[in-house]
Amino acid sequence: MKSEQSSLFDAVLAAHARYGTAEGGANASYIPFLAGVPSNLAAIAAMTVDGAICAAGDADYAFALESISKVCTLALAMEDVGPDAVREKIGVDPTGLPFNSVMALELHNGKPLSPLVNAGAMATVSLLRASNNEERWQRVLDMQSALAGSPVTLSDEVNKSEQATNFHNRAIAWLLSSADSMFCDPMDACDVYTRQCSTLVTTRQLASMAATLAAQGRSPVTGRQVLKCEHVPCVLAEMTMEGLYERSGDWAYTVGVPAKSGVGGGIMAVVPGVMGLAAFSPPLDDAGNSVRGQLMVADVAKALGLSLFDRR
Ligand code: DON
Repeated sequence: MKSEQSSLFDAVLAAHARYGTAEGGANASYIPFLAGVPSNLAAIAAMTVDGAICAAGDADYAFALESISKVCTLALAMEDVGPDAVREKIGVDPTGLPFNSVMALELHNGKPLSPLVNAGAMATVSLLRASNNEERWQRVLDMQSALAGSPVTLSDEVNKSEQATNFHNRAIAWLLSSADSMFCDPMDACDVYTRQCSTLVTTRQLASMAATLAAQGRSPVTGRQVLKCEHVPCVLAEMTMEGLYERSGDWAYTVGVPAKSGVGGGIMAVVPGVMGLAAFSPPLDDAGNSVRGQLMVADVAKALGLSLFDRR
């Protein structure tokens, strides 16, 4: 195990050295806060299912979780209503279209198709059991912390920036409502979704979230069973289908591990039974995935032969 850990550490360091300053991409600009995050930041971290962690670069810098939060809320909805209800009411297929696509809704009679696009994520929020919206929000935040194995907190600054500019998501929430694909007040769902995107995590915490999924839902940090182990394959299947939006197929083909990105520059990847990987760097490709983050995670996966589709 010692040599396995040192080869993981070597791979993490090498990925950061190779790709931590790679050129290309641009910060998200449609959320004013994200446009101002220093573009040169770059980090990678890995946590094994035993809780051993290694990291390189700016791994303690706290950044906005953004769409990676969709995985946490999906995990909570699985606990609340079960995988069959998620499949029936939201759908579990890739859209093949951008994360905020209205056309994807129009093409499927207002059904979101996936919990990992904005429409599906707001519908997922609306499925959660709660007697009021503050309880709904608190349960979402608690799930983020439980998956990370340490407290995750809301950034008022990010939240204000997003709430002041989320008109497109509000429109999607009303479209869902008009198609009977929204299961609570649409503006409440949009509000909680916007807050869940506005929490801050470090790359180390993100690796810990991924490691909890790798460890069949049990946090390697706290030992707590955060979600039922039988729900984990459903979450990972969704990450494979839609985790990197319209690049998800290309990612499965070239890297072969379930992953999820966010426009804050984070990306997490899960190697079931082995480890969680996370990377962060703000510049994004045109699908909204971190350019350096993808390169760093792919490099570690290649160096250690982690593809789920290659079991030679
Ligand atoms: O709703 C939005 O557009 C953002 N709060 C999150 C989008 C996002 O992270 C897409 N991911 N790559």
